[in-house]
Amino acid sequence: MLRRVVQNYVTLPAVREIAIVAPDGETITRSGAFKNDRPYALVRPQLAAAMEDSARSGEERFLELELDGKPVLVEILPFHNTLFGTSGRRGLAIAILDLRQLQAATLQMFLTLTGAIAIGIVAILILMWVSIHRVVLKPLTLVNQAVAESDRTGVFTMPANLPRNEIKFLARNFERVVKQLEAYDQLHKEIEQRKQVEAALRQSEARERAKSHELGKLVRELKQTQAQLVQTEKMSSLGRMVGGVAHEINNPVSFIFGNLTFAQEYFEQLVDLIELYQQSYPQPTPQIARRLDEIELEFLIDDTQKLFASMKVGAERIRDIVLSLRNFSRFDEAELKSVKIEEGLRNTLLILQPRFQGGSPVEIVTVEEFGDLPLVECYASQINQVFLNLLSNAIDALESDERYRHGRKLPVPATIWIRTEALNKKTIAVRIRDNGPGMPPEVRQKAFDPFFTTKEIGKGTGLGLSISYQIIVEQHKGRLECISKPGEGTEFVIEIPTQIPRS
Ligand SMILES: Nc1ncnc2c1ncn2[C@@H]1O[C@H](COP(=O)(O)OP(=O)(O)O)[C@@H](O)[C@H]1O
Ligand SMILES: [Mg+2]
Repeated sequence: MLRRVVQNYVTLPAVREIAIVAPDGETITRSGAFKNDRPYALVRPQLAAAMEDSARSGEERFLELELDGKPVLVEILPFHNTLFGTSGRRGLAIAILDLRQLQAATLQMFLTLTGAIAIGIVAILILMWVSIHRVVLKPLTLVNQAVAESDRTGVFTMPANLPRNEIKFLARNFERVVKQLEAYDQLHKEIEQRKQVEAALRQSEARERAKSHELGKLVRELKQTQAQLVQTEKMSSLGRMVGGVAHEINNPVSFIFGNLTFAQEYFEQLVDLIELYQQSYPQPTPQIARRLDEIELEFLIDDTQKLFASMKVGAERIRDIVLSLRNFSRFDEAELKSVKIEEGLRNTLLILQPRFQGGSPVEIVTVEEFGDLPLVECYASQINQVFLNLLSNAIDALESDERYRHGRKLPVPATIWIRTEALNKKTIAVRIRDNGPGMPPEVRQKAFDPFFTTKEIGKGTGLGLSISYQIIVEQHKGRLECISKPGEGTEFVIEIPTQIPRS
């Protein structure tokens, strides 16, 4: 049986010889040998030492040597068997392998194995690539195309035939995100539209407001013009009437004034004559003496002289008043004229004289500080009207001030200061100041509005300042300013050019 095993082994390509050696060195069997072979150490003397050593120690031995001029690998395997007894030596299985063939076989095997592995790897790679392509790349490309498409159209269409994996999940998520984006986009558009509508609305609202503001302004202007027309008409008819009356009075007054001088002269001459009689006839008749006693001649002469003087003063006063009235009304001078401003102020004060004396519950002092002014080209009657309005307001204010009422004596009495000055060659200023109650800011802000008044019905019309403003600012291209503090009085500053600039 051993022989058969040995013969079998020997058929392997690299095996040159197989031998089984008994512990005592007898060759039990050897490939390619006859039944009764020589002891193996004799067959292969090169191995004798190694065999002896392995049989004794029981250890494997490998040798490389040359046999019949060829390199061989010898493997000596000791084994133990009860058949051999207990001599302390082991049987040996010896295999002699052709080293070249062995190397060739190993190389062959290595090549075969490497080839197989390479083919395997390539196959796996191909398989992986195919499956990656099918499962990942292709779906990814599809999703990518759909995304690119959605970028153009704004609608994401889910690609068909996507494998059920993360990519499908990704595509679903993407679909959801695109839908949300779409919704967001829609929302954004709506917001934009609403904003536009809102802006348009706001614009039209602003336009409407501007229109209504404009309309309000127009209405106010209309009211003011109307009020002014009424006032102008009133003033002009008053002016005409005053002027007419003044003219009518002027004649008889000139009469009286002119004749008074003659009358006084005649009287003086008569007195002279009487004295001459007395000197020529120092002894009067009893009738004349009685008469002289009755009339108290000395007193009569004396008193008549005084009478003439007083009549002269009175007539002069009437003449002045008539002149003032005519000046004030200037109904015959509706055109531009160069006038002395202080004359207008004096005339206006004269007209207002009754309000300074007697009737007023407050004693009002006027202080006039007239500077050296050039002639001013203006509509004189209108400027006078402004003076009248401002002075009347000052008087009203002082009269309404409790501090000055009931004849109280205060360190500074109720006063109106009227100052004029030339600001420069082209502008003059008139300041009318009172130490009345002044105006709180809310009154001052509205004081120039037409129909604004704080006075009781029947007393105030609320037109004085608005008309004055119109006359000074619009007609004479000047400035009208109000400076007022509650408790400290009020000052109106009129500035007008000496010549109205042509515009
Ligand atoms: N000198 C002043 N002191 C205090 N208040 C004044 C003075 N002048 C004008 N005002 C205020 O301005 C308001 C408007 O004046 P105005 O236009 O002349 O109208 P009116 O005199 O008819 O009230 C007055 O009602 C008054 O309240
Ligand atoms: Mg007034």
